Amino acid sequence: MKNIFLIGFMGCGKSTVAAWLSQNYGMEIIEMDQLIAEKEGMSIPDIFSEYGESYFRDAESKLLLEIQAKQKKVVSCGGGVVLRKENVECMKRSGVIVLLTAQSETILERVRDDDDRPLLRGNKNVEFISDMMEKRREKYEAAADIVICTDHKSIETICNEIMGEL
Ligand code: S3P
Repeated sequence: MKNIFLIGFMGCGKSTVAAWLSQNYGMEIIEMDQLIAEKEGMSIPDIFSEYGESYFRDAESKLLLEIQAKQKKVVSCGGGVVLRKENVECMKRSGVIVLLTAQSETILERVRDDDDRPLLRGNKNVEFISDMMEKRREKYEAAADIVICTDHKSIETICNEIMGEL
């Protein structure tokens, strides 16, 4: 079995879905942000503020190349993973790409109390989120093999829909 790459905007539920799939299907999780933070020995906001976004993006691409050699993993990707074409190609080579979507209002509710996302600091409002999501929409949709809407659905429903599609 191939890897499952979960992609989508910040707060769309990638980590929650990865944890559920892991628990119920015994798949091992790869949390990209967590691994990058461990490798770099600092938090994601600190990586952004110390070294800048492009340094983080390089670390992200490098990690994806390592994941490419693995199998049967459920990979919770950072929300910006689709920004580089080579990342999408890399995921396509080693697995199925599942796009999770949610309305900006839902995203805002989910990220409101979280301070770990540097790109949303000071920008936690529906206008900013909608705008950023719109700018990325084409890339998310072009990368996806499967698209699952997560609004108003339980985690079980979302995961059953994913497994049904697979
Ligand atoms: C980012 C999403 C974050 C993290 C970083 C950048 C993005 O991951 O990789 O803050 O560009 O969308 P989550 O989608 O898990 O929040």
